[in-house]
Amino acid sequence: MKTIFITGGTSGIGFALAEHYLAQGNRVIITGRTESKLNEAANNLSQYGDLLIAKLIDVVERDAMSEYILEMDSKYTLDMVIANAGVSAGVSNIKDFDGVARNIFDINVYGVFNTVHPILERMQERKSGHIVLICSMSAFFGLTSAIFYASSKAAIKSYGEGLRMLMSDYNVDVSTVFPGFVESSITRANKFGMPFLISSKQAADTITKGLDKKKGYILFPWRMRLLIGFLAILPFSWREKILKKLPHK
Ligand SMILES: NC(=O)c1ccc[n+]([C@@H]2O[C@H](COP(=O)([O-])OP(=O)(O)OC[C@H]3O[C@@H](n4cnc5c(N)ncnc54)[C@H](OP(=O)(O)O)[C@@H]3O)[C@@H](O)[C@H]2O)c1
Repeated sequence: MKTIFITGGTSGIGFALAEHYLAQGNRVIITGRTESKLNEAANNLSQYGDLLIAKLIDVVERDAMSEYILEMDSKYTLDMVIANAGVSAGVSNIKDFDGVARNIFDINVYGVFNTVHPILERMQERKSGHIVLICSMSAFFGLTSAIFYASSKAAIKSYGEGLRMLMSDYNVDVSTVFPGFVESSITRANKFGMPFLISSKQAADTITKGLDKKKGYILFPWRMRLLIGFLAILPFSWREKILKKLPHK
């Protein structure tokens, strides 16, 4: 039995990952910041009894996160920590830039640091563990449609690459996950057609297969991966013309 810590496990990809690992007989700790959603998630997973631990905590609360992660590690020894909690928002009015930017970076970037950093030293000392960063395909290019979401995920992409190389000397795995469009509360807000949309369960199946193989990069679905690969080889000016036309969130 492994112990897996997942931030933002109350819905979407995080919930599907929790369900997958619980069904395999693992202990899973999920966190969320909305009490009603956390209770609903815990109720929906109640058949797993004590294997599930649900904690109300905001990833932005640095000290509380550190204290809780270390407490759970002392009690159960965390085998895998999945920094999944994230938010998205479009912004078209420059007057709103600062507020939106700070909110997204606080959660998507500093929230990831608040989740990962407390456990690194312990994993390093015991020479085992797996850090998982839920990033996004949007990390690969700047987007007008979701400028701060894409740039926050680009930060996580680079962080994940560096961290993987750094931690490999200590036998600690680091995987960065790049989903395309996945059905969840985040994509429910999109008013445009989303190519190659998949369910959270399909996403969790692909992610967990990649994690079992300790992959550094997990990109899916494959058709979106091809599209990103094609965009990447275009001259910058051509790619810019295409990306500029994408619909706004
Ligand atoms: N859906 C997609 O197409 C897609 C594509 C690429 C990457 N992703 C990434 O996948 C991850 C999961 O998103 P999702 O699509 O599954 O959306 P979701 O259903 O909205 O799940 C996000 C989870 O994060 C939690 N959360 C948000 N802010 C938090 C905070 N400050 N503290 C603690 N928990 C917080 C949410 O709880 P509350 O509801 O209570 O806020 C929820 O449990 C995100 O990092 C997202 O960027 C999603």
